[in-house]
Amino acid sequence: MRESLSGVVLAGGTGSRLYPLTKVTNKHLLPVGQYPMIYHPLMRLRETGITRVAVVTSPEHMGDVVNLLGSGSGLGLDLTYRVQDEPGGIAQALGLCENFARGHPFLVVLGDNILGNSIAHEVNQFQNQKEGARILLKEVPDPDQYGVPRFRGDQIVEIIEKPSSPPSQYAVTGLYFYDSQVFDFISSLSPSRRGEYEVSDLNSAYVQQSMLTYGILDGWWGDAGTLDGWHQANHLARHLTYPALEGQASASP
Ligand code: G1P
Repeated sequence: MRESLSGVVLAGGTGSRLYPLTKVTNKHLLPVGQYPMIYHPLMRLRETGITRVAVVTSPEHMGDVVNLLGSGSGLGLDLTYRVQDEPGGIAQALGLCENFARGHPFLVVLGDNILGNSIAHEVNQFQNQKEGARILLKEVPDPDQYGVPRFRGDQIVEIIEKPSSPPSQYAVTGLYFYDSQVFDFISSLSPSRRGEYEVSDLNSAYVQQSMLTYGILDGWWGDAGTLDGWHQANHLARHLTYPALEGQASASP
């Protein structure tokens, strides 16, 4: 698989865990370090050479997101937008990108995931993979807050969303590489007990076909979707800048 990848940044959801910070704005527009949260995943894509990116958000916040990012040209990106009418989960949001993907593999980054390092190495790893999907794991102290892999030996046999008894100490981070079969898997999913199409079920569908590989993410990683996570991400990202944004942080009006 040596095609250049497209990117998808998922920026929907209600941001309920950050309420009332999210009462009138989208979580992904809140500040993290020197930038609006969504700049971070976009810049991590951009620095690996992924410039064709779809951004998915809710109808309520699409206007603000477009006001911020526009066509993407100011950030060196070529942006496409998709509206997720109801907050039906990550897999549902991804399903809206089928035409965008045009039958090619792509990288999804959740809009609240903040990364300390470049993901260029991970992109290369996936491009050496013939088909299937790839996820990135990180050891965390609180796996019950995330999707968690269950291992047999060094093989993942299942991924469980926010398990009360986590089967390992690893979180599945919000970076997912998929081939175009993902859209068939999405259409075979059923909603979970909380009524959402879960990305963990989608990844488990790849596991069942023995088509999921994984890596361990280097450097720090934060999910800024909770108050603690957002504070921590702000602390870790306070000095984080990106070459494509030079001159756009606090110095500019
Ligand atoms: C989502 C996913 C979860 C994943 C996490 C990573 O959870 O559902 O599997 O581990 O992102 O950030 P959320 O943060 O939306 O609750």
